[in-house]
Amino acid sequence: MTTSDLWHHFGRTRAATDRDVPDSFYWTWGQDSGPGTEVLGDMDGACVGDLGAGSARHAAHVATRHRPARVIAVDSSPAQTEMATRLFGHLAPRLQIVASDVVGHLHAMDLSYDALYSVFGAVDFTDPRELLPATAVALRPGGRLVFSTLAHYLSGSPAQPDVTAGRVGAKTPDGQKTTMARWVLEEQVWVKLLDQAGFTDISVEVWPATSDGPRTAATLLVRARRTG
Ligand SMILES: C[S@@+](CC[C@H](N)C(=O)[O-])C[C@H]1O[C@@H](n2cnc3c(N)ncnc32)[C@H](O)[C@@H]1O
Repeated sequence: MTTSDLWHHFGRTRAATDRDVPDSFYWTWGQDSGPGTEVLGDMDGACVGDLGAGSARHAAHVATRHRPARVIAVDSSPAQTEMATRLFGHLAPRLQIVASDVVGHLHAMDLSYDALYSVFGAVDFTDPRELLPATAVALRPGGRLVFSTLAHYLSGSPAQPDVTAGRVGAKTPDGQKTTMARWVLEEQVWVKLLDQAGFTDISVEVWPATSDGPRTAATLLVRARRTG
């Protein structure tokens, strides 16, 4: 049985008209405020991974505006990796687009990465008890993990006080409504999970939404280092 690609429609409208590498890198939900790539540290010569890269716009920015050895944009959605390849495949070999579930990819990349990040990507949609230990396997000691995730559900409901996924709306490729799991967790739940997975120097910042509206949200920006 094949699983339906619930990311088939995501970013499709923008991809039809906007092929540019973004000039800025934003972590926040509104993509309009907060810090940029400096939170990833010095990326000169580094191996950097984008977990759940989607159309790889953030990864394309890192590959072209910095001097990493390589940026690996990983995504499990065939629609997203096809879109990323169409938009930014020409940035190879510095940008590599990999079609894979991140957990399997990270276990195969033992100690390979200097930095890993996720912008509302795989960290939001994968059981953190599997994903965070896998990131610790793939990072070199001292390597950074940075991710942005929702501070609360888009419906306005509060984040979970324990490691529980909520069900959020999604659409199949043929347009039928369905749901998928999304981990929207309180700040201290992320901190505890990261600590248990072998991270140190853990910090969480809250970036409020810059506008009002039904689908705006505050962002948690979470940073940690793999213990040495
Ligand atoms: C909301 S989109 C964000 C995409 C991109 N980071 C951005 O900011 O535009 C979430 C992405 O995470 C990917 N994803 C979710 N779980 C994943 C997993 N376990 N492995 C790889 N990709 C995953 C989805 O396929 C989707 O493209």
